Amino acid sequence: MDYTLVTGACGGLGGAFVNLLAERGEPLFLTGRSEAKLAVLAGALLEKFPALPVLIRACDLADSASRQALFAYADARGARFSRLVYVAGVDIQKAAEEYSEEKIVLQARVNLEGAVSLAHEVFLRRSEQKLCELLAVGSMSASTPMPYFALYSATKKGLEQFWVALRSEVKGRAKATVVLPGGIPTREDIIENIKSHGWFGRVSALPPEKVAAASLIAVARNRRRKVIGFWNKILYGLEHLVPLSVRLAVIARIWSKTQKDAF
Ligand SMILES: NC(=O)c1ccc[n+]([C@@H]2O[C@H](COP(=O)([O-])OP(=O)(O)OC[C@H]3O[C@@H](n4cnc5c(N)ncnc54)[C@H](OP(=O)(O)O)[C@@H]3O)[C@@H](O)[C@H]2O)c1
Repeated sequence: MDYTLVTGACGGLGGAFVNLLAERGEPLFLTGRSEAKLAVLAGALLEKFPALPVLIRACDLADSASRQALFAYADARGARFSRLVYVAGVDIQKAAEEYSEEKIVLQARVNLEGAVSLAHEVFLRRSEQKLCELLAVGSMSASTPMPYFALYSATKKGLEQFWVALRSEVKGRAKATVVLPGGIPTREDIIENIKSHGWFGRVSALPPEKVAAASLIAVARNRRRKVIGFWNKILYGLEHLVPLSVRLAVIARIWSKTQKDAF
């Protein structure tokens, strides 16, 4: 059977993707770090959609052996993939000098290495029935270097560059789209963060359901890169007109005031 593999399935944006895909009757292969949380999610889905094929398997995307075990589990069940939705991400925000080695490794691996690895494995196991869709959740934060959010911004830029290049390599055999959302109020710390970014933070933030819906449309159309939301498109267009030194100074002033470390 052909599945959509969703990473970060128990998270805020991942949950929105899962609901949308379940409503469409798409067979789901869900992963996250906690088997218990995945079992609760699968139970809730099956109550609402009793006929929906759902597989779950915990995986630490920062760990190569854990990723290999995920695909061994898929292979043992004869699973193929019609879509990858790589939502998992680690959005630690603080001064670079305040990171621990453990958090550097976690953020770099989940945001970039895990996505590259899963795209590779899913492509090898792609559906024979339909053109496989490879969707990665990047970020508006990748559109410029960001002091005090530097590693996040850099890893999401790396993800974006990889995905855009991958799209050319897999042309005709798979679709590949990277989406760039702005603020999404998914966790309490992110809601506070959006508030601290004033007027623009408020108007540009979008609910996870809207971001998920727009992202699925974008990959169905095989868009290369999709900025999500009207205000984010304006910002993305204008950003390049502002000299880098000014951008860096403004971002450093705003982003140095808050920290996020939910992982
Ligand atoms: N919220 C925003 O403002 C915003 C804006 C732009 C882009 N994004 C991106 O959107 C995506 C989802 O974010 P969100 O707001 O929904 O936050 P979230 O609820 O915290 O989701 C993050 C997900 O990443 C998963 N994850 C973290 N480390 C992992 C690991 N080592 N192995 C496997 N999974 C791991 C988590 O899995 P567990 O379920 O195991 O915790 C969680 O489900 C992220 O890529 C983020 O960078 C978010």
